[in-house]
Amino acid sequence: MTVSGALTRQRRVVLITGASSGIGKACAEFLQGQGYRVYGTSRRAPRAVVETPEGEGYPQGCPLIPLDVTSDESVERGVATVLAREGRLDVVVNNAGFGLAGAVEETTVDEAREQFDTNFFGTLRLCRAVLPTMRQQGGGYILNVSSIAGLIGIPFQALYSASKFAVEGFTEALRLEVAPHGIRVVLVEPGDFRTGFTASRHLARAAHSPAYADRQAKALGVMERDETHGATPESVARLVHRIIRKGSPRLRYAVGPASEKVALALKRLAPSRLFEWGIASYYRVR
Ligand SMILES: NC(=O)c1ccc[n+]([C@@H]2O[C@H](COP(=O)([O-])OP(=O)(O)OC[C@H]3O[C@@H](n4cnc5c(N)ncnc54)[C@H](OP(=O)(O)O)[C@@H]3O)[C@@H](O)[C@H]2O)c1
Repeated sequence: MTVSGALTRQRRVVLITGASSGIGKACAEFLQGQGYRVYGTSRRAPRAVVETPEGEGYPQGCPLIPLDVTSDESVERGVATVLAREGRLDVVVNNAGFGLAGAVEETTVDEAREQFDTNFFGTLRLCRAVLPTMRQQGGGYILNVSSIAGLIGIPFQALYSASKFAVEGFTEALRLEVAPHGIRVVLVEPGDFRTGFTASRHLARAAHSPAYADRQAKALGVMERDETHGATPESVARLVHRIIRKGSPRLRYAVGPASEKVALALKRLAPSRLFEWGIASYYRVR
């Protein structure tokens, strides 16, 4: 029996990292409302997972378990908690992440490591922790939340872009490795959404020199304007729901304002110098 066929007959178990806020929280609440058994994670969740009555909890109706994606031990414990309670895990949404801004020259290697530890190695840790179970079950869905910045290098967010480019390449390859085991691995590529992301953005500690300050401030101003004027993330949640009902989902799903989908199409189709000029002009760094 295929995994999709089997899973439609029972309550599917979903684990979403970074569900205390923004996209993860919207996904948790939406899928919970659609009848899935959803576990969200947060670094700040209380240690004891209490049985959350229907309609209560935060996100609404979901147990929120403590999990820090930068810790092997925390990820293993979090996944074990879900498996001990449910005996299976059907969908994982690797969503936890944050943004690091600042010129490359003014970003330390330690700051870059922190960025990768959450956005890339966090995704790797979760995948490694859930793949044995999904293989034994004969299937599952892994959705890796990338970004439009995982397809287009964004000035003064080079390390954030690099971490999401890494998620893109990793996901493309993993998808091929695990397809014969019935595991579907998919990229979700949001454009700008209004979430906690803007307030949580880290700025490289040394990012203040006059060499970059003016252009960095302009680029960050554009990013923050686009994020704070973006839509709330329910459309990402609806997309995630559509993906996990597909027997054969595509590798990539972009979601966000039409202008960002146009930018992705232009990157594929326009001459590269013209595209680069467009990005530099848009972020006011020329
Ligand atoms: N908003 C956008 O415009 C946008 C665009 C493209 C892509 N994205 C991506 O979407 C994802 C979600 O971002 P968001 O916009 O929803 O931002 P958000 O509102 O700031 O939410 C980020 C979530 O990640 C969690 N998190 C951060 N570091 C973590 C860690 N080390 N371990 C576990 N959880 C961690 C936070 O939980 P705790 O702090 O409670 O642990 C929080 O729930 C990120 O991967 C981001 O790169 C966002």
